[in-house]
Amino acid sequence: MAIVYNEEIKVFNLETEYSTYQMKVGEFGFLLHLYYGEKLEADSDLSYLIQRADRGFSGNPYEARYDRTFSLDYFPQEYSCFGNGDYRADSIQTIHADGSNVTDLRYKSHKIYPGKYRLPGLPAMFWKEEEGDSLEITMEDPVTGVQVVLYYGVLEKGDVITRSVRVMNGGQTPVELKKAMSLCLDMNHNQLDFIHFYGRHTMERQMERGPLHHGKQSIGSLRGISSHHHNPFVILCDRQATEERGDCYGMMFLYSGNFLAEVEVDQIHQTRAIMGIHPEQFSFRLEPGEDLALPEVAMIYTHKGLSCLSLKFHDAIRQHIMRGEWAHKRRPILINNWEATYFDFNGQKLVDIARDAKELGIEMLVMDDGWFGKRDSDNSGLGDWVVNEDKLGCTLKELVTQVNSLGLKFGMWFEPEMICEDSNLYRAHPDWMMRVPGRAGNIAREQFVLDYTRKEVRDYIEQAMSRILDSANIEYIKWDMNRSMCNVFSAALPAERQGEISYRYVLGLYELLERLTSKYPYILFEGCSGGGGRFDAGMLYYTPQIWCSDDTDAIERLKIQYGTSFGYPIGAVGSHVSACPNHQTKRITPIETRGTVAMAGTFGYELDLTKLTQEEKKVVRQQVEEYKKYDHLVHEGDYYRLSGPYGNDRVTCWQFMDKEKKNGLFCAVYTRLQANPAPLIIKLKGLDKKRRYEINGRIYSGAALMYGGLLLPVPESEYQSFRFEIQEKENL
Ligand code: DGJ
Repeated sequence: MAIVYNEEIKVFNLETEYSTYQMKVGEFGFLLHLYYGEKLEADSDLSYLIQRADRGFSGNPYEARYDRTFSLDYFPQEYSCFGNGDYRADSIQTIHADGSNVTDLRYKSHKIYPGKYRLPGLPAMFWKEEEGDSLEITMEDPVTGVQVVLYYGVLEKGDVITRSVRVMNGGQTPVELKKAMSLCLDMNHNQLDFIHFYGRHTMERQMERGPLHHGKQSIGSLRGISSHHHNPFVILCDRQATEERGDCYGMMFLYSGNFLAEVEVDQIHQTRAIMGIHPEQFSFRLEPGEDLALPEVAMIYTHKGLSCLSLKFHDAIRQHIMRGEWAHKRRPILINNWEATYFDFNGQKLVDIARDAKELGIEMLVMDDGWFGKRDSDNSGLGDWVVNEDKLGCTLKELVTQVNSLGLKFGMWFEPEMICEDSNLYRAHPDWMMRVPGRAGNIAREQFVLDYTRKEVRDYIEQAMSRILDSANIEYIKWDMNRSMCNVFSAALPAERQGEISYRYVLGLYELLERLTSKYPYILFEGCSGGGGRFDAGMLYYTPQIWCSDDTDAIERLKIQYGTSFGYPIGAVGSHVSACPNHQTKRITPIETRGTVAMAGTFGYELDLTKLTQEEKKVVRQQVEEYKKYDHLVHEGDYYRLSGPYGNDRVTCWQFMDKEKKNGLFCAVYTRLQANPAPLIIKLKGLDKKRRYEINGRIYSGAALMYGGLLLPVPESEYQSFRFEIQEKENL
């Protein structure tokens, strides 16, 4: 069993292959956190780490009145409550019928069972009974009857501990839940760096690392989506932690809407991290007997540095979050017409692109925005999911049949959560748009958000999409979402439930995605939100790949893809070769380099193939062949950041290696030319030091490559790149 409760000392011991998590039912039923870190002996009891002291202005629970050394003000908690004497970041806030706002949770019972707990309607990690266990601890506020079930999942191999929470109103009067975080993690020191991934549209997931300071620091989103601006994945690590060594704690929220990740260092230099739905714009009314499940957080600890942390998250997502036929199947190399044509296309143009694509070995054509309703610009049409046959010059079935007969699969774009004022859908159902009555609202890209809290809206979208999906052989969907939310209001909910909308919206989105992915299991879904505005593990549960960024510039992508790689597997990263000068930055880069960068992802093209020169087509043909050869490394292999794009402006390098340490791929992109350049030596990773490998015609030992390094060629032109196959050589 990965989870053991020692009745005598009241300690819960949660064990993965390389980590231990411990907590204790303390005096008066408070659940105290003891330890999370490197693996301990199974019978260890780290209660001794909690130092009792009489601290001024640190009150005591009433039961401890004569013992001034018991205080929730500095004791490490498993789930901190507002109003009971713990002044640090709280995990739960409630308002009761009498106006009081105290929550005071005490241990009531627990159960331990094999396998993974379930969170109906929410994305969550899954595993087999023999792979890990679950623990449910029920806490109760004896005065109000509020109960909180703390869920813990322990995936032994992979070192994952998941957390989630269900809040129940066991009292006699309604309770307003103002805040309910999914994770609270206390640590007894503050010698940690906080790593997070900030950004903006076309510049997502920029890595930032800095030391913790006293007080709170937080990142989060109030945009209704996880957002381009912050990502629901953060790391706390030793100040000295590197890619190769050091304590690292990764925390990933499996959720796609508003979130908060907050870290606080307290008066005695202890650290608390909380993660969950952002409490601003959130409230949930629980009638007596009602309950609410909150989304899951997956945590991984390793003492082996950031590289190991990333490898573990990549495997956890690939094996225990991604589902469906496409999770482990080779994804087709695609050509998308967005940057090739934008809205200016017809069926013939798409067939012309498809014909060239076939010649180059590309496997799927994706018809992007502009094929439906009245949609020749981004001003109108969203909501009207009816094929514009006049624009295409044929029916969808005819177009798909032509593309299929050329030997290509066919995929298409939808933006199912949106509505334009200039649409038949809006004219028929103005109240399906989220908008505060009496306010014009805030318009973005001429569009508004559909009220996905309403079942009839989701039903309508399902029917409209199904009509199209049933009409032709569609094998891929790009599910886009192109605005931040505000003026959040549902005409279908009463005033006291308006605070529930942002959460209900995401639940509605998940429900519809579940319906469609189960109904069309053969369709490959790619998530998208103006590029990577909803790049999170919640979406990866439904869509095994996500368009990483609307910035397709190969050099900017180095930073975007670098940041993304800390938490998310490379095979989930939508990445395409686009035209030059690049449409977002106007930068000119060699097509070879654009290929190198796009190969660190689900590979494809997004340019007008009919305009390529013969020379460029030759390169594309080679790239396509090469990617087919390396695909398994990208999707199932290990990925290593060798030389990042920060603090080094000369070269960015990465490496893929299969799990058997036999074959791999080394990639380098030069970002600055220099006169009289110093040698560039890059140490490889993940090899067997005793084996021999061939790279670029030369044989090296694994040890030489990992400890001595690879001497890189001197670049001959700007933004040059190299891809070197790594092949194990036997009997040498
Ligand atoms: C935003 C996406 O990220 C783009 O790739 C493209 O699909 C456009 N939307 C279309 O409107």
